[in-house]
Amino acid sequence: MGSRRDAHTGDRPTSVSLRRAGTRRPRQWRLRRVLWGFASSVAQVWADGEVGEPTIPISYTRTWGPIWLLRSKSTMLAGMGDAGDDGVLWTAVDAYLADHLIAKDDVLEAALRDSEAAELPPIQVTALQGKMLQMFARMVGARRILEVGTLGGYSTIWLARALPEGGRLVTLEAAAKHAAVARRNLERAGLMGIDGAPVELREGPALETLPQLVAEGVGPFDLIFLDADKEHNAEYLQWAMRLSREGTVIVTDNVVREGTVLNPASEDAVVRGTRRFFEAVAAEPRVSATAIQTVSGKKYDGFALLIVD
Ligand code: SAH
Ligand code: DHB
Ligand code: MG
Repeated sequence: MGSRRDAHTGDRPTSVSLRRAGTRRPRQWRLRRVLWGFASSVAQVWADGEVGEPTIPISYTRTWGPIWLLRSKSTMLAGMGDAGDDGVLWTAVDAYLADHLIAKDDVLEAALRDSEAAELPPIQVTALQGKMLQMFARMVGARRILEVGTLGGYSTIWLARALPEGGRLVTLEAAAKHAAVARRNLERAGLMGIDGAPVELREGPALETLPQLVAEGVGPFDLIFLDADKEHNAEYLQWAMRLSREGTVIVTDNVVREGTVLNPASEDAVVRGTRRFFEAVAAEPRVSATAIQTVSGKKYDGFALLIVD
């Protein structure tokens, strides 16, 4: 604690190295600290008074309180990290990035269109996220991919397209209606329903289909994408471990959910499941893990990235 060292040189950062010589202003810094402290107190009273439950840790309020004061009260009360007006900006930036980085693709667009027409929930990964998953698969040279949570097969198409000739992707989906839409989308993509097509969709609750995969000796997989019901992510991790080898990459979607993950008292099954997932990761000696918070057209969320050691 307190002696953060440069990861590469092992040097401790010094106050001098953090500020240009001749720019130290002790008096102003003291004043700033007083103002910051005052703003923090106001924010704490405001948050505790209005939000009521101790959903927001004091340490969090102390750090971000003054910034909250600059935001509209309704946005703050709607929840920590709520997209609010920022969502418009995040969506616009996503559009800008996708416009430059993602080629127009009739098959992916048709998959989105048919998923919407079938009234599937519009909760698939964004195009930028789908391409990131595809690039992860390419980076590890994945030949076998497992996806838990197919929906309309949008992320499935991104991932399956990373596979080399002879590669395989197994995707698991509980909802028959979602599976039906996904099959059509994957067939249109040429990834299913023809000889040698790489994708296999298994219908049923993942807590039933995952043990089947283990029993059949399918795997090990090179990349596993956990994106089904968040309630069971801790259990999915245990099954994923059994379907892994050293070096398998596991990506778990939606692990931040607008900051709600912070609330230890939450009764929301999704939040509880996500917190249990992180506890399971922390208790699992066989993985190295990180997590990245994201903003996007899908608001404020994040994904966890694990490598099996
Ligand atoms: N990966 C998709 C989105 C998946 S949404 C994409 O980005 O394109 C989550 C999906 O998980 C939904 O289709 C839902 O029906 C499915 N699901 C929910 N509970 C499940 C369970 N117990 N087993 C398998 N799938 C489940
Ligand atoms: C939601 C988003 C997801 O990516 C997902 O897998 C499930 C639900 C959502 O925004 O509700
Ligand atoms: Mg998801």
